[in-house]
Amino acid sequence: MRIAMIGAGYVGLVSGACFADFGHEVCCIDTDQGKIDALVKGQIPIFEPGLEDLVADNVRGGRLTFGTDLQEAVRSASAVFIAVGTPSRRGDGHADLSYVYQAARDIAGAMHGYTVVVTKSTVPVGTGDEVERIIRETRPDADYAVVSNPEFLREGAAISDFKRPDRIVIGTEDGRAQAVMAELYRPLYLNQAPLVVTSRRTAELTKYAANAFLATKITFINEMADLCEKVGADVQDVARGIGLDKRIGPKFLHAGPGYGGSCFPKDTLALIKTAQDHASPVRLVETVASVNDQRKRAMSRKIIAACGGSVRGKTVALLGLTFKPNTDDLRDAPSLAIVTALQDAGARVRAYDPEGMEAARDLLPDVEFAPDPYACAHDASALVIVTEWDVFRALDLGRLKHLLLEPVIVDLRNVYDPRELERTGFRYVSVGRPL
Ligand code: UGA
Repeated sequence: MRIAMIGAGYVGLVSGACFADFGHEVCCIDTDQGKIDALVKGQIPIFEPGLEDLVADNVRGGRLTFGTDLQEAVRSASAVFIAVGTPSRRGDGHADLSYVYQAARDIAGAMHGYTVVVTKSTVPVGTGDEVERIIRETRPDADYAVVSNPEFLREGAAISDFKRPDRIVIGTEDGRAQAVMAELYRPLYLNQAPLVVTSRRTAELTKYAANAFLATKITFINEMADLCEKVGADVQDVARGIGLDKRIGPKFLHAGPGYGGSCFPKDTLALIKTAQDHASPVRLVETVASVNDQRKRAMSRKIIAACGGSVRGKTVALLGLTFKPNTDDLRDAPSLAIVTALQDAGARVRAYDPEGMEAARDLLPDVEFAPDPYACAHDASALVIVTEWDVFRALDLGRLKHLLLEPVIVDLRNVYDPRELERTGFRYVSVGRPL
């Protein structure tokens, strides 16, 4: 089956490469000529484990191509995916749908024969209706269906999330479109991946509900962690103790510095706005978003307390800047709020991240960047683990102790065992665990 993937960003690139790997012919289209030129040369603009090889294999196999000519790609496609960005609109927090609607107009002008137009981008309820209307207005004669097929990919694990999904959600009541979607996802249908076929509006809302629920779960355990610190309990045991209950489940109960990334902060905000517009406020999600915002900055107070109440004139070493490991993405990362707050309090900040430093150089101009964790720790008054990259899980503690001005480790991801760290002579502060 021929697919046009509009948008060669994170979602478009991963989905395009995976569909090609399923045997389809995929053309990824982007307006950014520089990005397309790089992709044609085999250069992947994002860091995602396994993606470079997957793209190379499928380009070599002739199933995956890249280009800027939307008309050409759409004309020959049976399915056209809209995978363009939907950033938060400046000022009101609504998702900015201008790229989606522009894509709909461009697609309408080029479609030929029965075409299934699929929204993969995360879009508010009703966007599919508007895409359908735009296409009808632009091309009254077109034969098409608009389907919502939200993605549930996690950065860093996107390929396995695509190929072994917990579920596939398909929002359309059009029988022909359902058959096309079944063909597109054939290997997953054959493996009996759970399938939710529903209305378009339900599919659109399901995506937001999933992210809002996960954000709520994280925020819940983060508040439990704060309480654990006050009452002398251990949040990891609390998480295990509740997570073993199948009704709760063990995942997304890892306490930390607050959720970040390109999805949870933006999607919770967009859901809040949609709900307010429909006079059906999601008060729980409103609280989650505001608690999480406050938490990121509160982490700096924890670091300052661990440094004896002041960081003025001191160097603080941060390990990890990306919003989570295995990505180079710093969007809404807790590190950004932490760095700003530490600098406001008079600290010099030095940082190391395995993949995120290039992006960080623009975002954090006053930070000194180190080539490795040990250079980062040199003469610092505290070492702070902000992101749980695997390389930070087995640091040479003896070496660090010599390098640090004071043996203080603040572990915002609970990577180390408090008892072991205390034994090694560190003052160790983690999240929601007794010393
Ligand atoms: C998230 C969802 O997990 C995906 O299902 C969804 O498709 C994606 O958003 C999206 O909407 O595109 P992602 O943002 O890549 O994926 O990252 P997650 O692994 O969900 O982590 C999000 C944030 O929560 C990170 O800052 C992470 O450190 C934090 N987190 C996660 C915790 O603090 N504790 C946890 O237990 C889990």
